[in-house]
Amino acid sequence: MLLKDVLILDSSMDAAQACDLIVSGTTVDSILPPRSADMPEEIDGKGSIAVLPGFVNAHGHAAMTLLRGLGEEAPLMEWLQKRIWPVEARLRPEHVFWGTQLALLEMLSGGITCFADMYFFMDQAAEAARLAGIRCALSRGLVGSDEKKLEEGVDLVRRYHDPSGLIRVQLGPHAIYTVPPEAFSEISKTAKDLGVGIQTHWLETEWESGFIRHELKKDPVSLLAEVGLFDVPFAVLAHGVWFPEDRIHELAGSRMSVVHNPKSNLKLGSGIAPVPRFLEEGVRVALGTDGAASNNRLDIWDEMRTCSLIHKGSHRDPCTVRASEVLRMATVEGARALGFTDVGLIRPGWQADLVLVDLDRPHYVGLTAENLCTALVYSGSSADVAGTLVAGKWLYRDGDHKTLETGTILRKARDCRKELLED
Ligand code: NI
Repeated sequence: MLLKDVLILDSSMDAAQACDLIVSGTTVDSILPPRSADMPEEIDGKGSIAVLPGFVNAHGHAAMTLLRGLGEEAPLMEWLQKRIWPVEARLRPEHVFWGTQLALLEMLSGGITCFADMYFFMDQAAEAARLAGIRCALSRGLVGSDEKKLEEGVDLVRRYHDPSGLIRVQLGPHAIYTVPPEAFSEISKTAKDLGVGIQTHWLETEWESGFIRHELKKDPVSLLAEVGLFDVPFAVLAHGVWFPEDRIHELAGSRMSVVHNPKSNLKLGSGIAPVPRFLEEGVRVALGTDGAASNNRLDIWDEMRTCSLIHKGSHRDPCTVRASEVLRMATVEGARALGFTDVGLIRPGWQADLVLVDLDRPHYVGLTAENLCTALVYSGSSADVAGTLVAGKWLYRDGDHKTLETGTILRKARDCRKELLED
């Protein structure tokens, strides 16, 4: 498949590059000078289509699309305990199936090609992802010290984990305030034995930091080692808002990534994660939306823009958290965080997970190969996405979903929402 005369950009490049991009099967085959490839084209970009690596939404709860708008403007613990958990207790497998597909409509149309998901009835999420053809890292959210739930998580690994395919499965201890340390250690040990990653929430709120120090009587950084997170193949720590700044260096060089969810943290009033310090210390940082109930969009463009702006404003430093760093967080760092090693850059032999961006828009007048990255982060939006490919296959193109039935999903999702809220 030839993508003719397009501008490619990934986070390893200083400037965009005009080229003919050839995709063969599931991977990028070659990058040739523009208008030099001798084969029929799939598209002719005429220099005004950008091709980027697909975005990775490295932390979220996809089926929470069905809970969007519940308990708006409430503090996190009140929001969880009074508005979210009671509705989640009523979730049935079909709700998760349709709620996840609803999330996928939104994510694919915004150029997300890989997503992390921690939720319940994850076989339904896996089926939804398989139908869509999207790449993902799934985990069954684990709370308490219930062996049966861990067994469900392990069972999901056995049934769906495919190291050479699109679907990876990880273990998902929800957080240290919902999973006791001993049970958390057991989960980490199981992940290590299975050779899979971990997704968890860590230091999202000031309350959680106090809980660890005063209820558990632990240090929140030493506790990472105590519950085995340094020993698993890789781990995602969602949020890290309250990570003590003088201890950040202890994460550098580890196989843990912090997933920054700037909009969820802002909306829930949790604070602003010390992202400039994470980056300075060489800690891996990826980007995520978190669930639609606390964002409320599943839009990585929005996260990129918010991330690039809040740290500049709060540090009064226009040079911090640069657009190129944000693009890296939204692509290759997200892929690494979830354990994908050939995803997130445009390179021959790497997965052809690509997003096409229409540059023939008013807000892109004046862009050059040199400023494309800043133009995308500061001026661009998910509305500019013209196409999304995962492993060389079109999943979204010119406003149409190729694998998902939009009308059916919207209808079913509305029905699910009604059922969940009925008394
Ligand atoms: Ni979350």
